[in-house]
Amino acid sequence: MEKPYSSEYTQIDQSEGDTLSTDDEGLLTSQTQRPSWGHRKWLLSQVLLLLLNLSLALYLLITFARSNKTCARRVDQNSPVFDKIPQEYIPIQFVGNFIHHSQYRSLDGPPSPEVLAAWDRITDVAPLRLGEEDLDRMNISHRASTVKYSEADGGGYMGYIEVFHQLHCVKMLWKHTYIEQFPELQKILKSKPKVYHAHLDHCADVLRQNLMCTGDVNIMTYNWVKGVKKPWPNFTNSRTCKNFAPVLQYALEHEVVLKQGTQVTKTSGIYEEPTMF
Ligand SMILES: *[C@@H]1O[C@H](CO)[C@@H](O)[C@H](O)[C@H]1NC(C)=O
Ligand SMILES: *[C@@H]1O[C@H](CO)[C@@H](O)[C@H](O)[C@H]1NC(C)=O
Repeated sequence: MEKPYSSEYTQIDQSEGDTLSTDDEGLLTSQTQRPSWGHRKWLLSQVLLLLLNLSLALYLLITFARSNKTCARRVDQNSPVFDKIPQEYIPIQFVGNFIHHSQYRSLDGPPSPEVLAAWDRITDVAPLRLGEEDLDRMNISHRASTVKYSEADGGGYMGYIEVFHQLHCVKMLWKHTYIEQFPELQKILKSKPKVYHAHLDHCADVLRQNLMCTGDVNIMTYNWVKGVKKPWPNFTNSRTCKNFAPVLQYALEHEVVLKQGTQVTKTSGIYEEPTMF
């Protein structure tokens, strides 16, 4: 057929009485010489339209199924665990009241043992094992100083998922505000004040970088609140968040727990990086 593909649409339009379409030749042909031809064309166009609709539906379905992953794919895809942890996104309500109780926060006053235990559950995660290909994916050079597990411990490189490091940092900064409750922190602060502050400064700076990296543009509004003269920010708003549960589950399932009392030890003669921090 010499007819352009678009004429199929014209034919449908005509059959539906659309006067804008003027496919004279097609109309003539269908009416005089080959009465069934117009019908066949109409049928063909219907089939093509159906196929078009089906492929569109399929495309939308695939896009929808992938959309959960798309956000993380753009930023986290170089992580070797990216494909291994379900990238689920769920609605979460942020609660920002100045005074409220949660498992991560005592209602009023210093952290209770239960609250500290809740923090430990999301921060007490051992490192995991990485292979050569994982380092390649992260574009990290295989340096002589990169720490490996011994063959007895299963080999591979030592790695750690960032979110647990960042949570550790929040925990450290928060615990410092109640330092009178933590003798072990007081001890380090007294004996190595520079190291102690370097640790907390590092934590604040890492969290700053991550917050700027993620650049949360959700909005807070303000309310008038009894007894407060100024507009009071309302920190309660709903978000779409990465589901943390599968991340924690993966980390716990893959943590490399060495035999009690043993640590990854430095072998003599190994190449060492020149700087300490
Ligand atoms: C990988 O690292 C090298 C050297 O640090 C750098 O030149 C290159 O641009 C990096 N590639 C990617 C894809 O990040
Ligand atoms: C903040 O906003 C939420 C939801 O709109 C509302 O329920 C709550 O009362 C507000 N809090 C304050 C302190 O205004």
